[in-house]
Amino acid sequence: MKIGKGRKKMRNKQRKSSALGSDAGCGSSLSCIVWSLVGFGLVCFIFLKHQADSGQTHVYFSPLHATRELEDIEEDHFRLPPPHKVNPRAVKRRGPRKQPKVIDDYLEESSAVHALFFPDQMTAVDPTKGGNDSMYFYPGRVWLDTDGNTIQAHGGGIMYDHKTARFYWYGENKDGPTYQARPKGTQRVDIIGVSCYSSKDLWSWTHEGIVLRGEPSNVIHDLYKSKVLERPKVIYNDRTEKYIMWMHIDDANYTKASVGVAVSSSPTGPFTYLYSFRPHGCESRDMTVFKDDDGMAYLFYSSRDNTELHVSPLTEDYLQITAAMKRILIRRHREAPAVFKHQGTYYMITSGCSGWAPNRALAHAAESIMGPWETLGNPCVGGNRFYRLTTFLSQSTFVLPLPGLSGAFIFMADRWSPSNLRDSRYVWLPLFVGGLADEPLDYSFGFPLWSRVSIYWHKKWRLPEDWKIANTANT
Ligand code: DGJ
Repeated sequence: MKIGKGRKKMRNKQRKSSALGSDAGCGSSLSCIVWSLVGFGLVCFIFLKHQADSGQTHVYFSPLHATRELEDIEEDHFRLPPPHKVNPRAVKRRGPRKQPKVIDDYLEESSAVHALFFPDQMTAVDPTKGGNDSMYFYPGRVWLDTDGNTIQAHGGGIMYDHKTARFYWYGENKDGPTYQARPKGTQRVDIIGVSCYSSKDLWSWTHEGIVLRGEPSNVIHDLYKSKVLERPKVIYNDRTEKYIMWMHIDDANYTKASVGVAVSSSPTGPFTYLYSFRPHGCESRDMTVFKDDDGMAYLFYSSRDNTELHVSPLTEDYLQITAAMKRILIRRHREAPAVFKHQGTYYMITSGCSGWAPNRALAHAAESIMGPWETLGNPCVGGNRFYRLTTFLSQSTFVLPLPGLSGAFIFMADRWSPSNLRDSRYVWLPLFVGGLADEPLDYSFGFPLWSRVSIYWHKKWRLPEDWKIANTANT
């Protein structure tokens, strides 16, 4: 209706202005229209030609309408099953507790609470089957690849590759037994490697193999199976035409606290492992890399016992860090950084530090990527309070911009299953930037006013029906 009215107004306006036009002596109104059309056609031609030459992706519809329903607030009032009878081995491990907390219950694989949020294989999202569920994301369900195997890409990130016109999802392959390296140590899986999956539509993923493998026998190698490789992220270097992977490298006790770098000439690997180091001599645990529109790339890492984050520009070839470094979010105890940008402002989602247990996400914003970074508040919208305080029972890993949908992103997170890490799930939800933030935690005399970052809960959701990317250089 509104659109109809708007159009009517527009038509009236046009009528007025064309009448004005003839009064103002445009010669003949017919030739005026003809020349306008010629001019418009020329502009369109130049624009399309430029897009085709640069091989850019584009989408064919109006973003606002397409994403509106994803911004609907969806409530989800589940009833939690009665507290779990604690298994005696777990009591021995962590000592007796008066009141079992819901989260503790949730973390025990055998509990009914756990089963509620880790639905079984029967409900798996399966791209090989068509039907009504086709193209729907179901946060928390098992997600199969195009061979029918469970996707193993935890703590991952996605890179869009212009050359092949495909998205590539890289993540930890945790398809091994979970164990504790020492009695009170964190649950872990031996390093298998980094899996890679490719997709054109972000829903149906083809396994491209393990593109960086764990090392089975050389005990001093960084990737030796009993060590730690987490949160791999890949960016493409336009100058060297190489794909560069950065990752968290650690020992089983998380005391090495370093970043590792690997390189490949193809998005599907194999990646050659180069080295690990402590950036600026500082501890580095959860990390990410962010490639800016000007080609500069940056490393973000949790440091100083996870009490703060550091940000450092990478060298031109993305293989090292530069001397510059800024400490940000000091004393905030944040990890799992996922950085993105919208209309010149940088944003970041982080989690608190509670091992594999979920906690409250925070959104942050900055005018300059090197800071200062301000905290906006909890971005989670909808669901229920329990969900919002636990990031929908998940932890951030990456935020993917949706080409052609300005201000729309996919928030990617992990729903960890610490007692059986290979069964950890993916929580993907629409994230939007827009409007003014209503819950800024930092006040700089009210300036600047940041846009709101919102992650909307949906039990099931899909990308707008017409959303498709075409790469003119490759079609
Ligand atoms: C939280 C981190 O975000 C994960 O990547 C992993 O390192 C776990 N801690 C281990 O407890």
